[in-house]
Amino acid sequence: MKYIEILNNGKNFLKKNKIENPILDSELLLSKALNKSREEILLNSNHILKKQEINRFNNYLLRRKYNEPIAYILGFKYFWKYKFITNKSVLIPRPDTELIVEECLKYLPNNKSKKILDIGTGSGCIIISILQERSKCTATALDLSNKALKVAKSNAKLHQLENKINFINIDIDKYNSSNYDLIISNPPYINNIDISRLDDDIKFHEPKIALSGGCDGFRDIKKVIINSKKLLKRNGKLIIEIGSKQKNQSLKILNENGFYINKISKDLSGRDRCIISTKL
Ligand SMILES: C[S@@+](CC[C@H](N)C(=O)[O-])C[C@H]1O[C@@H](n2cnc3c(N)ncnc32)[C@H](O)[C@@H]1O
Repeated sequence: MKYIEILNNGKNFLKKNKIENPILDSELLLSKALNKSREEILLNSNHILKKQEINRFNNYLLRRKYNEPIAYILGFKYFWKYKFITNKSVLIPRPDTELIVEECLKYLPNNKSKKILDIGTGSGCIIISILQERSKCTATALDLSNKALKVAKSNAKLHQLENKINFINIDIDKYNSSNYDLIISNPPYINNIDISRLDDDIKFHEPKIALSGGCDGFRDIKKVIINSKKLLKRNGKLIIEIGSKQKNQSLKILNENGFYINKISKDLSGRDRCIISTKL
């Protein structure tokens, strides 16, 4: 079978199974099966596949049919300017989360060595992107999930930052090494009702521990704020991602814990997504 024919079969199969973006997904999965770029495949569309390659492609199609996210099948996802290893132990890095990186860079001068804490590092995408841009800074990255931490460590190695980040498998409530200049966090913030309404790709494949913020969605936002109060230096910054309807309650918790609100940033769709605050 030719590349062009199997791409077409793949597209029709995914479309029939109501998978969004069937053309793109078929091309990405074939590029994974052949270990070739999409461009190379499209430029050589009359090349013939080997039997093994057909089997690999069909296996990836089947996984996609059952809504496994493309980033888990491919094993990577681009975030900020970099490529990150992804598997089912970590949340897939989201474009909206790049806001945290953007905001952090504004508060981190290029020539200063600041101490950063990343609470709930997951794949490590946020802290690794920041350290790629600010070579003098060092960081601690925490996660309650040891499996997630393994992925974050692999990503740090991939980007040659393993000596700059101290990874710790711990619940934020039990961590007590203080004096950070900056704390960043994208905590789990989806409430139990909204979890049940998520797309199947997310609901059945991404780790619950990375999504669920408890009954009201604020369990981990509260933990991050309360612990940051004790872990930050005076005048240190906390930059936290929130759900689009969580602004008012998050501001209230921040105020109650002695934080001054610097700014609320909106995501790519114009929704409140990130709060920048200072420990007074
Ligand atoms: C929404 S994900 C964010 C992952 C990554 N920072 C990102 O933005 O893509 C939240 C992460 O927090 C971790 N986590 C959940 N509860 C935690 C806790 N109590 N202490 C530390 N980490 C926690 C989860 O395992 C998960 O990796």
